[in-house]
Amino acid sequence: MAQEVRGVIAPGKNEPVRVETIVVPDPGPGEAVVKIQACGVCHTDLHYKQGGINDDFPFLLGHEAAGIVESVGAGVTDVAPGDFVILNWRAVCGQCRACLRGRPWYCFDTHNAKQKMTLKDGTELSPALGIGAFAEKTLVAAGQCTKVDPSVSPAVAGLLGCGVMAGIGAAINTGNVGRGDTVAVIGCGGVGDAAIAGSRLAGAAKIIAVDIDDRKLTTAEKLGATHTVNSRSTDPVEAIRELTGGFGADVVIEAVGRPETYQQAFYARDLAGTVVLVGVPTPDMKLELPLIDVFGRGGALKSSWYGDCLPSRDFPMLIDLHLQGRLDLGAFVSETIALDDIEAAFERMHHGDVLRSVVEF
Ligand code: APR
Ligand code: ZN
Ligand code: ZN
Repeated sequence: MAQEVRGVIAPGKNEPVRVETIVVPDPGPGEAVVKIQACGVCHTDLHYKQGGINDDFPFLLGHEAAGIVESVGAGVTDVAPGDFVILNWRAVCGQCRACLRGRPWYCFDTHNAKQKMTLKDGTELSPALGIGAFAEKTLVAAGQCTKVDPSVSPAVAGLLGCGVMAGIGAAINTGNVGRGDTVAVIGCGGVGDAAIAGSRLAGAAKIIAVDIDDRKLTTAEKLGATHTVNSRSTDPVEAIRELTGGFGADVVIEAVGRPETYQQAFYARDLAGTVVLVGVPTPDMKLELPLIDVFGRGGALKSSWYGDCLPSRDFPMLIDLHLQGRLDLGAFVSETIALDDIEAAFERMHHGDVLRSVVEF
């Protein structure tokens, strides 16, 4: 029997979000219905509402979520009712060339639930990032669910569904930060701070945080930055060189997504160092670099897609590290809010007042 639950939808471009009754079908083959316990508010939800992603309104927002599997459809064996899971953006096929070569984050054949959630009048909803978890229950592909230790708080667990995983993964998976490395992180929002936490976890010797906002630098220090640079008042490339004995950092992580900051990252790394782009640029942005510098500086210029993560490997590991007190994921939760408070939470996020607001159900 299809069920009716409360969910937050974005009805049209730049219109305020609102709570509506949504209809969640029973899970079909390969699908699961998950009772959501917590879901973080992310910039991408705001971008959906503003029409920055696509025009498939109405959207069912929310995608950084954790909850309990309520029911599963035919053929589902990896998760069962009662399992505590973190949701991810899409299930991978496991069989394409990318999957077989161990890079399923570039899978050619990803999928979400085939059935649609709707409004009461039958209007089909587009779930944000294939999830739609600002709702008491949501329908996903079973492959979007990863079981983790249920003793963690759902508000903390849900964070790994998006921005925090992207940042930690940019450091430990893409950047391959190792013991003794020097790391610089440009842009210390949720993603950059997570890259700092990931670098600390990986044993980096120096972690230099760069931002234009002093409040962000204070938070970055709490998460493990050993040095901070305000790039409004100080040239960050020079500062990073000075702090690394004149060389530049082994790994520089760009978590803003702009040509100027990418350029800083490019020149702030040591010869043969690595630049990781995890900030998301817009399609109109262009990068201009002297080709001779690309040639002469060597190393690796990488981008990080969802932290190049393997949910089934990385989610349980990071939750375990958090429960052992070795990774403070709790520091990313600035406040917990109710489903009706999302519009106000967007406002606080927009002004840089919070790292993450998390809806608890
Ligand atoms: N130099 C340094 N820091 C900057 C600059 C700049 N020129 N411009 C902005 N910042 C800082 C902001 O002060 C803020 O602390 O970058 C940070 C961006 O953080 P958020 O807006 O909170 O974004 P976040 O969620 O961390 O995502 C960062 O990754 O996922 C993508 O789309 C996302 O591109 C965005 C990036
Ligand atoms: Zn695949
Ligand atoms: Zn997100």
